[in-house]
Order: sequence, then C-alpha cells, then structure tokens
Amino acid sequence: MSKQLTAPDIQALKGREKIVAVTAYDYATGCIADAAEPDLVLVGDSLGMVVMGLPDTLGVTMEDMLHHCRCTARAVRHALLVGDMPFLSYHAGVEQAVLNAGRFLKEGNTRAVKLEGGRAVLPQVRGIVASGIPVVGHIGLTPQHVAGFGGFKAQGKTAEAARILLEDARALADAGCFALTLEAMPREVAARITEAVPVPTIGIGAGPDTDGQVLVFHDLLGLFDRFVPKFVKQYAQLFGPAVEAVRAYAEEVRRGAFPGPEQTTGMDPKELERLTD
Ligand code: KIV
Repeated sequence: MSKQLTAPDIQALKGREKIVAVTAYDYATGCIADAAEPDLVLVGDSLGMVVMGLPDTLGVTMEDMLHHCRCTARAVRHALLVGDMPFLSYHAGVEQAVLNAGRFLKEGNTRAVKLEGGRAVLPQVRGIVASGIPVVGHIGLTPQHVAGFGGFKAQGKTAEAARILLEDARALADAGCFALTLEAMPREVAARITEAVPVPTIGIGAGPDTDGQVLVFHDLLGLFDRFVPKFVKQYAQLFGPAVEAVRAYAEEVRRGAFPGPEQTTGMDPKELERLTD
C-alpha cells in the first residue's frame, strides 16, 4: 500500500481524479474503511447520531471526538485522517479554535480538521491554517446549525442563498482551506462552487459535479436505519443480517447448541484425573 496521503496530496487531486471520502469512528470501522483505500477518512461529528444515539451533533464534545479520532487513527494507514471540530469548540474565538484544532493533531492523531460555517468562521480558519494545521471547510447544510435552520434542510435553493454559498466558498478557499465539504444543496450550486474555487469540493447530497464525494460509514453500509437521508445510497444492508446473526446466537445459546465442540477446550485427561483425586 502506498504512503499515507497528506492534505497537499488531496488538494492536488482537483481536476485529476475524483476524491473518495468516507467517515469512520473507531478501530473496526477505520480498518474496514482504510482497507477499501479511500483518499480521506473523516471522523465526523455524525458520530453523535450513528455511534452515540443522540438526535443531532450538538451534544458531541471535544473529548468524544478525540477519543474516537485516536481509535480510528490506529487503523488508518493510507487515507488522510481528518477530525471534525464539534459544536462550540471553535465558535468562541480564534484562540479557542487554534488550541482545539491543535488537540486534534496532538491528542487525536489526525492530520487535518474540518469545521462548519462560511464567512463567519474566517478568522478561525486563518488562525488554524497559520498554525500549520490543514483545514477542510464545510458549507450548505451544516448540521451544527440545525437549530437555526429549523431542521436538517437543504440549503442554497434560491438565487440569493446560492450566491451567499458561492461567496462563502471563495472566502474559505482564500483563507487557506485545502478542501471544502458541500452538503445538501442543488447540484447546480455545487457545480458553480466547484468551478469557482481552486480547491477540491467534496459533496454529500450535492450532486455528481463536485470533485469528490463523502458518505457516512453507517449509511453506506445500511447499518443505521433510524434516519436515512434522501441523498444516501446504501451499498449494503447490513443491519438486518447483523440482527439475524445475533438472533441465531441467542437461539443456539438458549437450546444449548453454543458453544459446540469446536469452540470448547477440554482439559488434559491426566490433569483432570489429578483434579478429581
Ligand atoms: O459529521 C460528518 O460525518 C460530516 C460529513 C457528513 C461530511 O460532516
């Protein structure tokens, strides 16, 4: 397997090949994701929903993220590992943003961070980039703004809203983001942004014209069936087979069929004799 990809490697893919990104949250999901050789693995704050069972990402803390980043980093050897900065870990100012972004590299073992927002977070992006930490921007449906948006709603649907997204994207690229996530917006808006910025765009629910795509691990594998966004394609439906496997185990335990001879170790007969003496 080739060397681990860096932020400049990802940036250099724009216009050359489509970027493949996927989320992962721990050692097991990191091993599966990395074995498929995506370019980028994101420890997303979507872990709030798919791992922690929260209704949204707002309750995810820095400690949650760092714990999951560390676990995932032990597995990921090929892709660039990016850590998602959680709600309120960068909003209070540049100093807070730089210190918390630094923790992702020092304690979470990621090699870049992602944060949500447009021009409102430019000072934070500039400060983090100036500290030598690569940043992925994220605009469109930014789930940390779910309360303000009034739900998980696609963005950029009017000409005015699309113009704002375009200007946000340009400003984030100028501020030093090496890539931009475009979430849940009309394909035409994502295509215009992709043309307008010199850095790669990685879409989720933003159509086929972005420079790359990202999907949530549990969505892609059909492991999370409580909420499946319209833009998700399930490449497998593993929730049902997983339940069936656990059910089969429970049934065998109940009728005494598990563990069987193959899963059972007997004692050396001489030792057994000594034991019964
Ligand atoms: O948290 C996450 O998984 C994300 C991706 C959906 C882009 O931000």
